[in-house]
Amino acid sequence: MARRLALAVLLPLALLALWATAVQQRWVVEGIVPSPAQVARSWYQWIVGGPTRSLSPYSGTWLANVAYSGRRVLEGFVLAAVELDQCADIGKVKGPILRGLAARPPYFHNGSAATLSDVVEFYDQRFGIGFTAAQKADLVAFLNAL
Ligand code: HEM
Repeated sequence: MARRLALAVLLPLALLALWATAVQQRWVVEGIVPSPAQVARSWYQWIVGGPTRSLSPYSGTWLANVAYSGRRVLEGFVLAAVELDQCADIGKVKGPILRGLAARPPYFHNGSAATLSDVVEFYDQRFGIGFTAAQKADLVAFLNAL
């Protein structure tokens, strides 16, 4: 048992040493067989990232992706726990059809938006979109055309 265990540890170590020696002594071409240290560095780069470490999902490192996925799973559980008792309302409200919109102001169920410009203004402020004046005008023109 102890011999098997020793072998299980020693054999990989011996292979690692052989690999490192083979690269160091140039028995193999380094560009084709990289050294163990180079492989370890590449793994580290892939998992953790370079000197400018970032956990942003856009950094593309494995750790960042796992962290981001984990966060989303947690958020899902939290949302489910918080919203569970509010799910009774699902399906009770239907979004309005926007065809022929221009012909039937005021808008929203309580008529709180007198014009399509007010609708766009509402969305811009409620969701902090930051439309430019030109974008607002484009959107109103689009809604007018439906
Ligand atoms: C800039 C983006 C958006 C525009 C231009 C827009 C446009 C409109 C318009 C013109 C109405 C009024 C329709 C009517 O009264 O006949 C409306 C109502 C509504 N929209 Fe949007 N919408 C936008 C984004 C969204 C989003 C993201 C959601 C859902 C997540 C949404 C859900 C609804 C609902 C539920 C209503 C009915 C509200 C009520 O009657 O009080 N809209 N939308």
